Amino acid sequence: MRFAGRMNTVHRSYIREILKVTARPEVISFAGGLPNPDSFPVAGLAAAAAEEMKECGAQTLQYSTTEGYLPLRRWIAERYAAQGLSVTPDEILITGGSQQGLDIVAKAMLDDGDGVLLERPGYLGAIQCFSMYRAAFSTLELTADGVDTQALDRALQAGSPKLFYAVPSFQNPSGISYTEATRRETARLMAQSDCLLVEDNPYGELRFKGQALPPVKAYMNGAPSVLLGSFSKVVAPGLRLGWVCAPAELMDKLVTVKQASDLHTPTFNQRVLYRFLEQNDVDGHIASIRSLYGRHRDVMVEAIREHFP
Ligand SMILES: Cc1ncc(COP(=O)(O)O)c(C=O)c1O
Repeated sequence: MRFAGRMNTVHRSYIREILKVTARPEVISFAGGLPNPDSFPVAGLAAAAAEEMKECGAQTLQYSTTEGYLPLRRWIAERYAAQGLSVTPDEILITGGSQQGLDIVAKAMLDDGDGVLLERPGYLGAIQCFSMYRAAFSTLELTADGVDTQALDRALQAGSPKLFYAVPSFQNPSGISYTEATRRETARLMAQSDCLLVEDNPYGELRFKGQALPPVKAYMNGAPSVLLGSFSKVVAPGLRLGWVCAPAELMDKLVTVKQASDLHTPTFNQRVLYRFLEQNDVDGHIASIRSLYGRHRDVMVEAIREHFP
């Protein structure tokens, strides 16, 4: 078969390989960011789905807008407001997980050979996604305080990278979080550059200790950037629901890209999730996930101390 040239630049899916191992029941894999299924709100989602079908079945099964279900976009904007980030529902596009968000941002922004800055080590799903668009990667070392901002400054000055992809909170795979000073300096450098910050934040709310920090976007003084979010780690990944928060100029392009790809994210999933969020104590649910994982972390650390050489 005559495959597209882009397929030569992409490795076999690392993530598929990781997920394959997780299907073995005797394996507890720490390689992927797989949530613990004990944390999934099965009963709450079942009740929301049953009610949604009973009350709005036909609408729930119909096509809907590319931007996504407006009440869900409003809910996300209000949650950002509570964290001190001023975002309107028009700046939110609902996607099939943040992974699709990454893909449509890359598709809208990248031509063959465009420069992309990545943290080192970086998130495999992003490397795979950007490889599809034949990005030219440069990497920035992570320190205990987050990305090396001097290296970021040099990289922004040396080339003309189009994107900097960063996971500033509980980075995958390192677990490192940028300190407030690193967030501020990253924002300052990015705001004065024409390189677009693509900030991925699926884990920000799963903090075990210390003070919650807002996304880097909060320090950008209104300069354009992209912030990706996800319901995968705080509700359930099988719903495939996430979002892109982007300024109007880019949003227009993202909507076009998404329309060409899948028309819109499933109406059913969006409406069921919204009903679940409205009817349940979401903060309490997230607190219970934090406590479950915090306990697991403690047991793991103990076991490493006791059993590892
Ligand atoms: C940093 C990062 N971004 C994106 C994703 C994908 O998340 P989603 O399920 O929202 O597509 C993951 C999943 O593990 C991740 O760790």
